[in-house]
Formats: sequence, C-alpha cells, structure tokens
Amino acid sequence: MILSKEHASTDVALARRVQWPPAVRITALLAPAAIALACCGSDPPRALRPPPGPPTGRIEIHQPERLTSIASDQRDALGRPLRVACVTCHSQRVPTTLPSTVTELDEFHQGLRFEHGALSCGSCHVAGDQRSLRRADGTMIDMRDAMDLCRQCHGPQTRDYDHGSHGGMTGHWDLSVGGRVRNHCVDCHDPHTPAFQPSLPVLPPRDHGITRQPSRGDH
Ligand code: HEC
Ligand code: HEC
Ligand code: HEC
Ligand code: HEC
Repeated sequence: MILSKEHASTDVALARRVQWPPAVRITALLAPAAIALACCGSDPPRALRPPPGPPTGRIEIHQPERLTSIASDQRDALGRPLRVACVTCHSQRVPTTLPSTVTELDEFHQGLRFEHGALSCGSCHVAGDQRSLRRADGTMIDMRDAMDLCRQCHGPQTRDYDHGSHGGMTGHWDLSVGGRVRNHCVDCHDPHTPAFQPSLPVLPPRDHGITRQPSRGDH
C-alpha cells in the first residue's frame, strides 16, 4: 500500500500517541536481537580433519624408582641420595611369613605408615620375594607392574586413567605427532597411605618495607 505523505505523517503521529502495553514494547525491542541470533546460530556443518598420519607415537608408563630401590642417607657427587636396590638385602633374607602390622618392622623400614582400607600386607606382598607382588587371584607379577595390582581393585579410576582423565601425562595428545609418557599410580599415591596428600600453601609474599620499620631507639 502506498500512502500519501500526508497520510503517513498522520499515522506516525497516531502511533506515537498510542500507549503500547509493556510486553509488546519489550517484544518489539528484543525481536531484532532474536532474528540476529537465529541467523548466526547455525554454522554449516564441517567435516572433522583426519590426523596428519597414523598413530605411531609410543605410550610409555613412567617407572618410579621406589618400586625397585630405596633412598639411603648417603649422597652421590651431585648431592642426590644414593639408592639401594631391594634385592641387595632381600636376596639375602628369605623369611617365610609377612608381618601383619607395620609395628612388626623393628629391624628396618621402621616408621612405615599404613592406611589403606582394611588391606593386609599379604594383599599385595609375597613372603620371601620382594621383587614381586601378589594379585587377588594368587598370580604373581613383577614389582614394576604394580599398576596391575591397583587396577584390580580401583575400577572407576582405572577406567578414567585409560581415558586420560585421571593420572595426567606429558607429551603429545595426537599420537601421529609424537609419543607420550603416562604417570604410574605410585608416582602420585603411596601404596601404603594412598590418600592424595594435601599440598602446603606457598609462603606469603615477602614484605619489602611496606610496613614501618621499628624505630632504632629514642632520640
Ligand atoms: C638395606 C636393606 C634393605 C633394603 C634396601 C630393602 N629392605 Fe625390605 N627389609 C629389610 C629388612 C632387614 C627387613 C626386616 C625388617 C623387620 O622384620 O624388622 C625388611 C622387610 C621388608 C618387608 C616385610 C616382609 C619381609 O620380607 O620381612 C617388605 C615387604 C620389604 N622389606 C620390602 C622391601 C622393598 C619393596 C624394598 C625396595 C623398594 C626393600 N624392602 C628394600 C631390609 C631391606
Ligand atoms: C596395596 C598394596 C600394598 C599393601 C597392602 C602393602 N604394600 Fe608394601 N609396598 C607396596 C608396593 C607397590 C611397594 C613398592 C613401592 C613403594 O615402596 O612405594 C611396597 C613397598 C614396601 C616396603 C619397602 C620400602 C618402603 O618404605 O616403601 C615395605 C617395607 C613394605 N612395603 C611393607 C609393607 C607392610 C609391612 C605392609 C602391611 C602393613 C604392606 N607393605 C602393605 C604395596 C603394598
Ligand atoms: C586388594 C584391593 C586393593 C588394592 C590391590 C589396592 N587398593 Fe587402594 N583401596 C582399596 C580399599 C578397600 C580402599 C578403601 C576404600 C574406602 O575406604 O572407601 C582403597 C583406597 C584407596 C585410595 C583412596 C584413599 C583415601 O583415603 O581416600 C587410593 C588413592 C588408593 N586406594 C590407591 C591405590 C593404589 C595406587 C594401589 C596400587 C599400588 C591400590 N590402591 C591398590 C583396595 C585396594
Ligand atoms: C598425577 C597424579 C595421579 C596419578 C598418576 C594417579 N592419581 Fe589417583 N588421584 C590423584 C588425585 C589428585 C586424586 C584426588 C584426590 C582428592 O580429591 O582428594 C586421586 C584420587 C584417587 C582415588 C580416590 C578417589 C576418591 O574419590 O576418593 C583413587 C582410588 C585413585 N586416585 C586411584 C588411582 C589409580 C588406581 C591410579 C593408577 C591407574 C591413579 N590413581 C593414578 C592423582 C593421581
């Protein structure tokens, strides 16, 4: 419809005088925004880019030293604690029983703490063989495969670990670019007191003279 100039101006004047209800005014204000969103909200679907090559990177599991040796109080030339292999002592002593509590360790390894559910030493250790661990079904595994031990009782964390959401990693997410190193359960959890130890908060920032120095005697 084509309005004459006269009609049009009368219509505008009329419209100005009409008091629209608030709901109608808000709708009128929001309409352009809604239209803009509707237009931008749907990107055309894009195909995922394939990885640049086959997943050739190796996945390694870090081997904590503590599975095969203990730190001594001696230090090497670089100041690092010298480590003594478990076999150094345990190939010499072949007892037929395991201790039932940590308090029975009075010759060596004194002060070991144990808080791990209602497990006993024999849930994991083998009497007379400290290079191996015992799984629930009685099969023996190498001490270095201790993760297989944790896996049999901690299903949800094992699943999360395998998906990459528990345990962390360093290296490449995309294995076609390079390999990655996964942490061992024992890197973060002591098998005897596995609860993740709370970390200490850092020291507060040092005050470089903002507070007033104590006066050096009376004048
Ligand atoms: C310097 C020697 C020495 C080293 C190194 C050593 N142990 Fe022992 N370990 C002992 C002695 C001695 C006992 C007996 C302690 C007691 O009964 O009071 C013992 C006891 C144990 C026991 C209790 C069962 C048993 O055989 O009496 C376990 C388990 C054990 N050690 C594991 C290990 C593991 C694992 C390592 C390495 C990570 C290790 N030990 C390293 C000397 C050693
Ligand atoms: C959940 C499995 C598990 C249980 C239960 C367990 N251990 Fe261990 N133990 C390990 C593993 C794994 C290691 C080697 C890694 C390490 O020392 O952190 C180890 C190492 C040790 C060591 C070597 C040194 C050290 O200080 O860690 C001693 C000693 C020991 N265990 C004694 C005991 C005694 C005694 C008990 C029972 C009160 C016990 N363990 C229960 C898994 C276990
Ligand atoms: C034979 C079964 C068994 C094995 C093997 C085992 N655990 Fe456990 N773990 C338990 C039980 C039972 C609890 C206690 C659960 C509770 O109190 O709710 C527990 C608790 C824990 C906790 C939680 C501790 C807390 O107080 O919050 C961690 C972490 C843990 N285990 C790690 C490990 C690691 C690491 C290993 C391998 C070295 C391991 N477990 C091996 C049975 C096992
Ligand atoms: C990079 C360090 C790291 C590694 C490696 C790791 N965890 Fe944990 N884990 C943690 C942290 C952090 C928590 C959370 C502790 C908390 O919330 O108090 C945890 C919690 C747990 C708990 C207790 C869960 C709960 O709800 O109380 C279990 C059980 C556990 N981990 C088992 C494992 C097992 C089994 C492995 C090896 C397959 C493993 N973890 C490897 C860091 C780690």
